[in-house]
Amino acid sequence: MTKRVTTLTLAEMKKNNEKITMATAYDYASAKVVEEAGIDMILVGDSLGMVVLGYENTLSVTLDDMIHHGKAVVRGSNRAMVVIDMPFMTYQVSKEEAVRNAGRAIQETGAPAVKLEGGEDMAKTVKKIVKAGIPVVGHIGLTPQSVGQMGGFVVQGKNEKMAEQLVKDALKLEDAGACSIVLEAIPRQLAQLITEKLSIPTIGIGAGVHCDGQVLVYHDILGLQTDMRPKFVKQYGTFYNPMVNAMEIYGKEVKSGAFPSQEHTFTMDESIIEKLREKC
Ligand code: KIV
Repeated sequence: MTKRVTTLTLAEMKKNNEKITMATAYDYASAKVVEEAGIDMILVGDSLGMVVLGYENTLSVTLDDMIHHGKAVVRGSNRAMVVIDMPFMTYQVSKEEAVRNAGRAIQETGAPAVKLEGGEDMAKTVKKIVKAGIPVVGHIGLTPQSVGQMGGFVVQGKNEKMAEQLVKDALKLEDAGACSIVLEAIPRQLAQLITEKLSIPTIGIGAGVHCDGQVLVYHDILGLQTDMRPKFVKQYGTFYNPMVNAMEIYGKEVKSGAFPSQEHTFTMDESIIEKLREKC
């Protein structure tokens, strides 16, 4: 039995200066890839809405979507700590609703933890969920569920006031019991300061090298999408075109009759078929 990464493992890794790796996954197959690569944490991100379901942003994703995909990810993983993103409007209305929905997310998927967006304003909600026994990963900086309010996917915390608020947000989330915090699209110097001030690990995405860990979206790492490529994304593979090529060759071979060949075909005794021909 492989030992799962837990909140205690994360705390230990921060203490030992060991970088934490995290990637998103959305189904059994993608979870297997991330798992086999030895990545420490799998985020079932609500980026699901954009990279898997084809929405323009993450706002249309539902808790049922997250649970459906989260279950498949849990089935495809055995060591990584799986974190389920709480989608838009499942935790903002009231603390009670947030606890109930976080409970559904972990109870129905089997994942141990949830992630939600927001800082100081969400600290009381985080505290309630943690009190119910559910580990929470915070998420501050560029928070895609507030993309309308932020005026687009833009870097956060560049001026003193915004930067100070982000430090406060991080400290409030730590006080509330968050086990880790995602820092998205903030300057590396600010991410370094926050990382130094916290005893819980920070996981950066577009937040520089000083975070305790890094997270990237599965499709971005593997080059599986051609739409949007933010500055902070590094592609470690370019699999989209090879996949289209393979699909094209398949289509052509079916049209020409080259597929299926003998190699991919079952046969039977010819005499049986002859008999059948006479009978039918
Ligand atoms: O939904 C997601 O994939 C995320 C990451 C970008 C951190 O929240």
